[in-house]
Amino acid sequence: MKRNETLIWERNKHIPRGPFNTHPIFAQKAKGALIIDVDGKEYVDFAGGIGVANVGHCDEEVVKAIRDQAGQYIHTCFHVVMYEPYVELAKRLNALTPGQFSKKTLFVNSGAEAVENAVKVARHATGRPGLIAFDDAFHGRTLLALSLTSKTKPYKYGFAPFVPEVYRMPYAYCYRCAFGLKYPSCEMRCANFLKEFFQIHVPPEHVAALIAEPVLGEGGFVVPPKEFFKILQGICHDNGILLIADEVQSGFGRTARMFAIEHYGVEPDLITMAKSMAGGLPLGAVTGRSELMDHPQVGGLGGTFAGNPLACRAALAVLDQFEKKGLLARAEKIGERVLKTFKEFYDQYPAVGDVRGLGAMVGMELVVDRKTKEPATALTKQLIEFCREKGLLMIPAGRNSNIIRPLMPLAITDEQLERGLTIIEHGLQDIHQSR
Ligand SMILES: Cc1ncc(COP(=O)(O)O)c(C=O)c1O
Repeated sequence: MKRNETLIWERNKHIPRGPFNTHPIFAQKAKGALIIDVDGKEYVDFAGGIGVANVGHCDEEVVKAIRDQAGQYIHTCFHVVMYEPYVELAKRLNALTPGQFSKKTLFVNSGAEAVENAVKVARHATGRPGLIAFDDAFHGRTLLALSLTSKTKPYKYGFAPFVPEVYRMPYAYCYRCAFGLKYPSCEMRCANFLKEFFQIHVPPEHVAALIAEPVLGEGGFVVPPKEFFKILQGICHDNGILLIADEVQSGFGRTARMFAIEHYGVEPDLITMAKSMAGGLPLGAVTGRSELMDHPQVGGLGGTFAGNPLACRAALAVLDQFEKKGLLARAEKIGERVLKTFKEFYDQYPAVGDVRGLGAMVGMELVVDRKTKEPATALTKQLIEFCREKGLLMIPAGRNSNIIRPLMPLAITDEQLERGLTIIEHGLQDIHQSR
C-alpha cells in the first residue's frame, strides 16, 4: 500500500489545488468513529466526512443494504425504469419531516443540488424570482447555490457573475450581533428587520423564498434564539413567501431531533437534506408541500443519477439504524457532554470566546482577545493540527475559520468521545502555555 507521503505527492501532481484538504492523510479504513490512515495511524473522527457519518462509518446494516442492492441492480435511471427504494424512501421522509400537511419528495445527488431544486420549485410555484439568504450562510458550490452562499474567500472569489435576485440579510449571530444588540433586550431586531428589508432591498411581492439553515453549519454552528424562525415565518407567510429550511448539515439527527427546525416549532414549506442521509453515499433530497412539489411540469425536475438505488437503500438502512440504535437520544447525550466540556474550557482558557450548541451541534469560537473578539484563525489552525498529531480529526468553521465544530459520528463510543475531548483539552493547554 502506498504511504501518505507518496500519495500526497501524486495528489498534487494529478489533482488541482481547488478541492481543499484539511488533513494531509489518506484513508485506509473507517469504522464507527475511527479512521485508520494508510500509514496505519488511528484517529478518532470528529469530522465525520463533514457531517456525513452520523450513523457511523461503514455501519453494518448500511453496508449490507448496499451490497444487497448492488447484487440486484445498480442503475436504471428513475426517469427510464422506476424502482421501489426511491418510492419507499420518499414515503418515509414525507412522514418523518415536520409539517402536518401532504408532502412529496424529490431525490438528487448532493446538498447543492437539493438547494438548486428547492429554489426551482419555489420560483415555479410562486412565479417570483427573488431569494433571501443570510450572512454566513453556506448552501453549496454550484452557481445558484454559490450565489446563496455567503463567504467570499475561498468560496466565491473569482467565480462571478452570480445568479441575480439574491438578497442577503444578517443572521441571528448573537455573539457577533450585526445590530450591536444583546438578546433578549434586542427584541429580535434581526428577525423583525425583514419588514424593513422589504422597504430598502426588495419588495415582498418579488420574493419567492427565504432560505435559512436552522443552525449555521459552515458559518460556525450559530444557534439562533428560539423566536427567530417563528418571526421570520410569520412575516414570510403574510407576504406569500416560502420558507426553505436547509437541513443539509443540521439534519438527520445532528441536533437530537431528526431536523433542527423542529426545535423552533416551525413547519417549513420546503426542506433540503443530503450529507448524512445515506451513510456516505451521495444523495440529496427536497421534501415539501405536495402542491409546491407538483408545480413544475413533467420533465422539469430530475437527473440521470438522482436518487440512485444504492443510495436510496442505504438511506432506508440509515433510518432503520436511527431507530434501532436510538441515535437521537445518543445525539442528546453527546451534545450534553461536549457542551459541558466546552463550557469548562471557556472557564479555563481565555482563547475560548464563545460556546453554543443545539443537540450534538456544539461550537466553540476561539478569539485572540475576549474583549475585542478578534477571531483567532491561526490559533484554531494550530489547535486542529495539534489534535491531528495526537490522533483526533477536526475541521474549522466560520467566516474567519476560528470555530471548532465537532461533527463526530453519533455512533461514537463514550471512550472515543472522551479520548477526543481530552486531546482538545491538551491542545488548549499547549496553546495557553505557548502564549
Ligand atoms: C447547509 C448546507 N447546504 C448545502 C451544502 C452543500 O452540500 P454539498 O456539499 O453536498 O453540495 C452544505 C455543505 O456543507 C451545507 O452545509
